[in-house]
Amino acid sequence: MKQICVVGVGYVGLVTAACFADLGNRVIALDVNEKRIENLNNGIMPIYEPGLEELVQRNRRANRLCFTTSYSDALNETEFAFIAVATPSGINGEADMQYVAAAAQTIAETMTAPLIIINKSTVPVGTGDWMADIVKRYQKKTIPFAVVSCPEFLREGTAISDFMQPYRTVLGSFDHEAAEKVAQLHLSLRAPIVITDLRTAEMIKYASNAFLATKISFINEIADICEALGADVKEVAIGMGYDKRIGPAMLDAGLGWGGSCFPKDVKALAFMAEEKGLDPKILNTVTHTNYDRRRKVVRNVKKMLGGLEGKTIGLLGLAFKPNTDDMREAPSIDIAQELIAEGATVRAYDPVALENAHNLLPAIETTTDPYTLARDCDALMVLTEWNEFKNIDLERVRDAMKTPLIFDGRNIYDPAEMRALGFTYRGVGRGFDR
Ligand code: UDX
Ligand code: UDX
Repeated sequence: MKQICVVGVGYVGLVTAACFADLGNRVIALDVNEKRIENLNNGIMPIYEPGLEELVQRNRRANRLCFTTSYSDALNETEFAFIAVATPSGINGEADMQYVAAAAQTIAETMTAPLIIINKSTVPVGTGDWMADIVKRYQKKTIPFAVVSCPEFLREGTAISDFMQPYRTVLGSFDHEAAEKVAQLHLSLRAPIVITDLRTAEMIKYASNAFLATKISFINEIADICEALGADVKEVAIGMGYDKRIGPAMLDAGLGWGGSCFPKDVKALAFMAEEKGLDPKILNTVTHTNYDRRRKVVRNVKKMLGGLEGKTIGLLGLAFKPNTDDMREAPSIDIAQELIAEGATVRAYDPVALENAHNLLPAIETTTDPYTLARDCDALMVLTEWNEFKNIDLERVRDAMKTPLIFDGRNIYDPAEMRALGFTYRGVGRGFDR
């Protein structure tokens, strides 16, 4: 049993804290957001993540997990301090490091005993060295410490299982003994552990996310070609995926990627390259084509309807992906804004993201279920592939709509079945576009 501090209880930090507690450690989770900590101490979750509430409550009851805003409480008798604060995109795509700097500085000012400081947040290559300088600069007296990079590879919606059954644990440090100690924390996960230097570990995270984003942008481009040539991209992806060098994952064509990671990480990696005078053509093209899809989708629906002025469009799903309430960089934001700009009235339903959506999309009406949403709509657009949309009563939806037209941005329905039900249906890459 080790004592661990986690700084930042967001989508990554809270899952990390709860999982380390569930592995038998004593975890003190810290955040500067007092309301967030107050809510957590009253059993109120700041985010929606399947299984997280039960995990947090169970470990709080077992006295393995507690929450504080006090760095001195959090670091008292603590050997490991994980930093999982936000690293959002700056105006040029660079990672905004102000929160990481603040956390490192406060840790330095507060620590009273040797400490291993572990970066969980996705941070630019070279951050480890930069953080060590901050800690040395702000320490009140010289206390031994080490900096370790331990990037997170958590997907929202499956973050707990991704933590407990990782494909691999990556650790980087100039202090091999510190890296080995952090590796000990992960041994019970029984996954391969890669121990390397700080910069390489930081790069593994960016390169992994950039590759996954590239794979998705690739299949989306194949989808557009499939529409022009009459092939079905879902079948293409199945045929490709049997090749072990390709694999079936991340080959679902659709609206492109959103979320708090792919968009910011691909931009940050390109920014790092350009800062060194390189020209990351692939990374910049991947980002450009990803965002272009959102405009393309609206153009497709406009073509299907013969115009958007005065039309009522219902959006099925707003979250950037299913099983999360996260709306960061969700395609639905740009799509809804573009529809409104074209003169359409936009309504939406999402099982859990409506609260976040109200703040981001104040101009849209929201409803409590897909059938109310469908009422008198000229078209429905599937923007998030929630399971509850996959088996809805489509005849009831069709009969409620003004015109039975569906744009299936996540290919959750079968084109032949939809047309047999009387829908004008269009998916993504599902044969000749109609
Ligand atoms: C964050 C980073 O954005 C991501 O790049 C990294 O991979 C993991 O950590 P996420 O957990 O989604 O991802 O961030 P967010 O949900 O915004 O939570 C960050 C938390 O840090 C917030 O609760 C915020 O209050 C807290 N925080 C921020 C601090 O505790 N201290 C600070 O100085 C700033
Ligand atoms: C991603 C990485 O998968 C994870 O390893 C990293 O730690 C954080 O970033 P996340 O963004 O939570 O995780 O979700 P993910 O399931 O990877 O989806 C990312 C985006 O790609 C979503 O917008 C999703 O809709 C889209 N996507 C995903 C596709 O369009 N097609 C796919 O086949 C898979």
